[in-house]
Amino acid sequence: MQKALLQVDGQSYELDIVIGSEGEKALDIAKLRDKTGYITLDVGYKNTGATTSGITFIDGEQGILRYRGYPIEQLAEFSTYLEIAYLLLYGELPTKAQLEQFERKIAERTLIHEDIKKFFDGFPSSAHPMGILASVVCSLSSFYPESLDPHAPDEVVERNIIRLLAKVPTLIAWIYKKRKGHPYMYPRNDKSYVANFLYMMFGMPTYDYEPDTHVVDALNKLLILHADHEQNCSTSTVRTVGSSQANIYASVAAGMCALWGPLHGGANQEVIEMLEMIRADGGNIQKWINRAKDKNDPFRLMGFGHRVYKNFDPRAKIIKQAADQVLNVLGIHDPVLDIAKKLEEVALSDPYFIERRLYPNVDFYSGIIYRALGIPVEMFTVMFAFGRLAGWLAQWWEMRRANEPIVRPRQVYTGPTLREYVPIAKRG
Ligand code: CMC
Repeated sequence: MQKALLQVDGQSYELDIVIGSEGEKALDIAKLRDKTGYITLDVGYKNTGATTSGITFIDGEQGILRYRGYPIEQLAEFSTYLEIAYLLLYGELPTKAQLEQFERKIAERTLIHEDIKKFFDGFPSSAHPMGILASVVCSLSSFYPESLDPHAPDEVVERNIIRLLAKVPTLIAWIYKKRKGHPYMYPRNDKSYVANFLYMMFGMPTYDYEPDTHVVDALNKLLILHADHEQNCSTSTVRTVGSSQANIYASVAAGMCALWGPLHGGANQEVIEMLEMIRADGGNIQKWINRAKDKNDPFRLMGFGHRVYKNFDPRAKIIKQAADQVLNVLGIHDPVLDIAKKLEEVALSDPYFIERRLYPNVDFYSGIIYRALGIPVEMFTVMFAFGRLAGWLAQWWEMRRANEPIVRPRQVYTGPTLREYVPIAKRG
């Protein structure tokens, strides 16, 4: 094993070098404190590897994203979301028979326990869909107590993974129906996974509904592009919560809460709201670019910038192209797409964005497609959660199987040093 040499306090220490399969290099500092008394400090984990993982590879400099070695461009063009879920979970692309069996197992579990309907009654119709989704997903653990056993055999874990993949689309569709005040639609397992979701979202008991194949394809593509993104904020949360041996429903619900924030999955909703605001304001692009650059102004260009991608986000490239195609096929002209393109053009030629290497990310154009598919803006982050579900599950399973220790970061304490307690009567 290669070693690195650290010199501190006049002493030399050897650190193991860990090299990933794509040549990524890391210093193993797990024993650093025991040996030297030092910890490493990295607020926001900007440069800290929290785990080793065989699921997703990203090269932020080159704009590369691969699931289990397969380029995202090929997967987005040729596969389906469930094929990708299988790949992420089991490590290999399924054979036709394996995929059919996987799809069947999921289709058999799409129903939601009738008592869960009562949960929906308790939420106001104005409730944010992410709040409902995270709460109901966490509550599922009470319907499947076998999931609480941290030492349950793999087949039990797998059954609960299948349950989540099966039930989350039903829950999302019901959240939408609840907002609309429309009757909940029960799953139709003779339809494909994505077509069934669209049926539960947009079908009504009063007429037949068959989703347009272009819409099914576009949604498959979006779900695939969101399916995993290695150790991002929500996935790290899922692994962190799972590392305490919390059940898979609680862990995924925690990931959903992390995703909700506007700097993470909540950005897709913010992007459309921003574009609409710019349009309503007369479409003065430069004014908003100037605001984004002004450090005294809290406004940021939502859908721009990424912690890892520093040249381009490959998902944004695919989505931008898909947005054009989908709108074309569906015969929709969305003025917000024109604003988005102009905004991108102006930002990419502005020194502020060039110097900081800020490019459109996955959220910049995705909302335009969701909108074209008829999905309301408040549901966008829930759609991100739908896609990311496969990744969270695969990452949680990987963490559990590797028997990773509980996540427990250190800190550098900066508060008061020891002082004597003064009873309240003497404090004045
Ligand atoms: N608009 C204006 N300035 C920005 C933006 C932006 N969208 N993003 C980063 N910057 C500036 C930031 O002010 C800082 O400038 P300076 O060096 O002068 O202080 C510099 O660029 C570096 O930014 P950072 O906040 O230190 O970078 P980060 O890696 O901590 O944050 C980010 C990454 C995605 C949170 C950030 O770029 C951002 O807030 N973007 C907007 C929100 C967004 O679109 N989020 C979705 C991310 S992709 C989907 C997902 O996986 O969640």
